[in-house]
Amino acid sequence: MPRSIVTIDDLSNDELEQVFVIADDILARMADPARPYRIRGRAKLAEDQILSTLFFEPSTRTRFSFESAMERLGGGVISSPNSAATSAAKGESIADTVRVVENYADVIVMRHPAEGAARVAADYACVPVINAGDGSHEHPTQTLCDLYTLHKERGMKSLADFSGLNIVLYGDLKHGRTVHSLVFALARLRACIILVPVKGLELPEHVTRRLQRDYDCVAAMPEKPSPGRDLPVDMIYVTPKGPHQQTIYGFLDAPAELKNVLSDIHVFYVTRLQTERGTDASGRGAYQKIDNEFMKKKSYKDSRVMHPLPRVGELGYDLDDDPRGVYFKQAAYGVTVRMALLTWLLDLTKTGTPPAARECELPEYCHKDGIQCNNPACVTRLATEQQYIEKEFWIVEQKDSIVLRCMYCEYEYTIACVGRVSKREYSTDPAQLKVTPRNDRILFAQVQDAVNAGYTSSAESAALP
Ligand code: NCD
Repeated sequence: MPRSIVTIDDLSNDELEQVFVIADDILARMADPARPYRIRGRAKLAEDQILSTLFFEPSTRTRFSFESAMERLGGGVISSPNSAATSAAKGESIADTVRVVENYADVIVMRHPAEGAARVAADYACVPVINAGDGSHEHPTQTLCDLYTLHKERGMKSLADFSGLNIVLYGDLKHGRTVHSLVFALARLRACIILVPVKGLELPEHVTRRLQRDYDCVAAMPEKPSPGRDLPVDMIYVTPKGPHQQTIYGFLDAPAELKNVLSDIHVFYVTRLQTERGTDASGRGAYQKIDNEFMKKKSYKDSRVMHPLPRVGELGYDLDDDPRGVYFKQAAYGVTVRMALLTWLLDLTKTGTPPAARECELPEYCHKDGIQCNNPACVTRLATEQQYIEKEFWIVEQKDSIVLRCMYCEYEYTIACVGRVSKREYSTDPAQLKVTPRNDRILFAQVQDAVNAGYTSSAESAALP
């Protein structure tokens, strides 16, 4: 199986570094001298390659920059004007679509409104699949653009330099897929993450749980809002294992340190309200616009303002000529970084060892009658996909409690009971997970679900004479 890029975790830190080295090399050879963040010309690296873009949602930057990247590498692109022009409009499933398109292209770039759609595509295609955004879930290549822009703007020598970064994530943190990929990358690189969501649009719970469990992030509540504080900070995450974070971590004991973080913000990463995903547009009124007026605070004089774009009112046009506003450069680097990703993923420099699929080491759970993902936006809820997708989960915690993660949308669920199919009994003791044979176990989120399925408590059975 080839490597696909479905989430930002599909690239290790070493691999991120390799992609950035390739990107630097591409810029050194192909940058426009007048605007050194822009690529010009056409290389001859991908003459035998075809990229297919399958976009089931609107796009300007992601689709065009992927297509431009493949063209500039010397390869070809096949696409369709929109999803209404593909057989998806006739009810074709994702699995069937990619098993057809893999015969026409060497790599598939897919955008889809369902969370986990790219995982389905990657499971069924025999060519690499790159997730160009799956609902609110993830958008890993936007994160590559974001990190690469920071690497260039801050003159970073290596990824280790991210551990000195204080970055504000601002706006719709609930539905913004760019934020969901970025926050995991920043946590992995040990940046200090300052969350400033629009009220009601905080990071989803499964994301904050992962920050703490999987990335060793420590959540530090800001001190009570004080007069003069203009940022309604919701939470700050730090990874205290890094040397730089040791000092910031001190603010848990000494709140004064927190002020230092907030007065030394290197980046404002602004996002729009994702109204197409259910965000109420009326929240726009309460949205502090990031513009010249906001940025005139002395301590922001060396900060940078980033945005994945499009902007719809949250970012002032008056920042466009301000060197601190780097969002158009960020969009331009999208071509460089996607050229670099394609070069690495498709082994265009012919090292002979294209990256292989990454195996997840977590144990799996699957049962057709047990718990199912109840995220309404999960790909497993689509009628076209339910015909063949199994309800599969990773077991991410199994000591004091059992927590499952949907393999597709990555929502997490705490399990209330472990059932034994052969006895039609359930237990609320998490230790039962380990002792129940895999092919005899069934998991339920609520006790009531087990009862509804006809299971009785093993404690009750034991009490029977
Ligand atoms: C983002 C997206 O589609 O998630 N745009 C992009 O790819 N650059 C952000 C957005 O639409 O708000």
